[in-house]
Amino acid sequence: MNTDHNLEHVLTSARELLANARYCACLSGAGLSAESGIATFRDADSDGLWDNFNPMELASVEGFTRNPERVMKWYNARRTKLSEVQPNPGHLALAEQKNLLHITQNVDNLCARAGTDPEQLVQLHGTITEDHCLECGAREAIDTDKPKPLRICSQCNSGYMRPSVVWFGEMLPDAAWHRAEATCLALDVLLVVGTSASVYPAAGLIDVARNHGARVIHINPDGEDIPHEDMWLQGKSGDLLPKLLQGLTLSSPEVV
Ligand code: OAD
Repeated sequence: MNTDHNLEHVLTSARELLANARYCACLSGAGLSAESGIATFRDADSDGLWDNFNPMELASVEGFTRNPERVMKWYNARRTKLSEVQPNPGHLALAEQKNLLHITQNVDNLCARAGTDPEQLVQLHGTITEDHCLECGAREAIDTDKPKPLRICSQCNSGYMRPSVVWFGEMLPDAAWHRAEATCLALDVLLVVGTSASVYPAAGLIDVARNHGARVIHINPDGEDIPHEDMWLQGKSGDLLPKLLQGLTLSSPEVV
């Protein structure tokens, strides 16, 4: 358990580490958006989305095929919720780091809304701001203010349109994964924010970075599973990211 004194101490060490690092990157998860009012998936207080909904019903091709109406309604309710919330100080602090690669598992578009340069954002699990056809892959941008109900693709007139998020059992987008992995091979510091690090392959990026010599700094209220060689800033990212990053200019490696 971090006392306030301890937290100040770790914060100072983490700032020093970042200030002296050549190459850094950030890997984020649902906790980054928690202070915007978006539920996480697995929360300690059993209020996570996957405590209350069955992921295989709502986040798999099989679940969608069984009941596309239910799945589309669930995603559209999330879209409506997103249009009612704002990026929080954690998103904003990361967006200010114009040369930092931000690898996120989040599909909520709050990083982009906070002003993160699209070139510096890797969305490993896709985005809720797009649908694509289950059959032909045709894409359509979705305005979260006005989500579209379940419908057949207007290009092929055959498949249902589905949210462009990565579901269980699906591959991550190739380019996103390769950029994330290549970056993590070349880091001095990886900042890991608001993720339970329990979903692979995304969580494996932390091992990739550590095994290639990077130090890992975690920001999370819960540190149960954090290896002791890593640094842990115990608390909320909306509070700690601005304190950690203030006055620092971080850079990520250029990878092809
Ligand atoms: P989880 O819900 O698994 O984990 C959220 C993490 O955020 C937990 O470790 C919390 O302790 C932490 N947390 C909560 N509030 C926080 C705060 N204010 N500041 C910082 N951290 C906080 O979410 P992810 O790790 O993102 O996949 O889950 C990974 C993937 O599982 C998601 O991308 C999603 C889900 O199935 C897909 O939808 C494909």
